[in-house]
Amino acid sequence: MRILVLGAGGTGGYFGGRLVETGADVTFLVRERRAGQLAKEGLRIESPFGNAELQVKSLTADRIDTPYDLILLSCKAYHLTQALEDIAPAVGEGTLILPLLNGMAHLDRLVERFGSSKVLGGLCHLAVTLTGEGVVQHMSKLHRVTYGPLEEGQKARCAEIEALFSEAGFDSKCSDRIRNDLWKKWALLATLAGITCLMRSSMDAVAATERGTSYTRAMLEECVAIAGAEGFELDEKFVEGTYGFLTHKSAVQTSSMLRDIQNDAEVEADHIIGDLVARGDKAGIETPMLDMAYCHLQAYVATREARKS
Ligand SMILES: NC(=O)c1ccc[n+]([C@@H]2O[C@H](COP(=O)([O-])OP(=O)(O)OC[C@H]3O[C@@H](n4cnc5c(N)ncnc54)[C@H](OP(=O)(O)O)[C@@H]3O)[C@@H](O)[C@H]2O)c1
Repeated sequence: MRILVLGAGGTGGYFGGRLVETGADVTFLVRERRAGQLAKEGLRIESPFGNAELQVKSLTADRIDTPYDLILLSCKAYHLTQALEDIAPAVGEGTLILPLLNGMAHLDRLVERFGSSKVLGGLCHLAVTLTGEGVVQHMSKLHRVTYGPLEEGQKARCAEIEALFSEAGFDSKCSDRIRNDLWKKWALLATLAGITCLMRSSMDAVAATERGTSYTRAMLEECVAIAGAEGFELDEKFVEGTYGFLTHKSAVQTSSMLRDIQNDAEVEADHIIGDLVARGDKAGIETPMLDMAYCHLQAYVATREARKS
C-alpha cells in the first residue's frame, strides 16, 4: 500500500514515522523548509516508546505524479484549504483519505472536494509537538489512531488499514461508530482547550478554585447538547468520565491550544471552538461558555495578526 502523509509535523511525523519503521511504503508531502530538514537530518522522534532517526521519502506538492492508496491528512485546520489543493493530484479512483485533525468541519470539506467514498473518519489520541529543530517530541504514553468508515462500502478497505496499522508500533482501532467517537473527542478537547485558554492554567489549577469545576461542567454540557442536537447522544458514562478526568485534582494537563497561545502561534480557534458555537446557534442552543472562549480566542487572533502586519 502506497501511503502519503501530508505534513511531517507532530501527528504526521509520529504516526508516519512509526509506519516507516515497519517497512511500509510511506512518503511525506511537505513544504520546502521541512523537506530540507528531513533531507539533512532525517525524521527524528523522541518518545517514551523509543526514539527513532529515520531516513524517509519526502516530496513537495509540485512533484506528485501518481495517486496514492492512503493519504494521512495531518495538517492544522487553518492550513486545510491549501492542503486540499496539494493532495488533489495524489487522489485517484482507489484512494482513501484518513484525516487526523481534531473537530469535524474538515470532513465536509473533504467529502465536498473528493467525494464521500474516499473519506474515512479518523482521530488520534496523542500528545506530541514538533520542536523548532524538527524533532517530533512525544510527551505521554498514549499513541492511538481510531478510524472508521463513514459509509457502508468502505468497510472492506478499512480492513486493509487494520492490517497495516496492526504492524505498527502504535495502538489503533477500527470503529463502526467513528462519528460518535469524533464527537466525544471534540467535546473533551473543546472543553479542555476552552477552559485552559480562558483561565491560562492547567486543569488542576482550575479545579482547585472555588468555582472552576462548575465552569468546566457548563462548557462540557454545552458541547454535549450540541452533539445531541446533531443526532449524537453522548452517554452519561462518557460525560461523567470526561468531567471526572478534567476536574481531577491531579489533572495537570493543559491543551496544545494554550501552548500555542503561550508560544504566540496560530490557533485552531474557528475549527475547534467557533464551529461548535455556529452549530449551537443553528440548533438554538445557548452556549455562553463556548461564546466566551471563542471571543477570547478571536481577540487573541486579531491582536496577533495586527502585531504581525
Ligand atoms: N499534536 C498533538 O498532540 C495532536 C493530538 C491530537 C490531534 N491533533 C490534531 O492533529 C492536527 C495536526 O496537528 P499537529 O500537532 O500534528 O500539527 P503540526 O505539528 O503543526 O503539524 C502539521 C504539519 O502540517 C504541515 N502542513 C500544513 N499544510 C501543509 C501543506 N499544504 N503541505 C505540506 N505540509 C503541510 C505543516 O508544515 P509547515 O511547517 O510547512 O507549516 C506542519 O509541519 C490538528 O488538527 C490537531 O488539532 C494534534
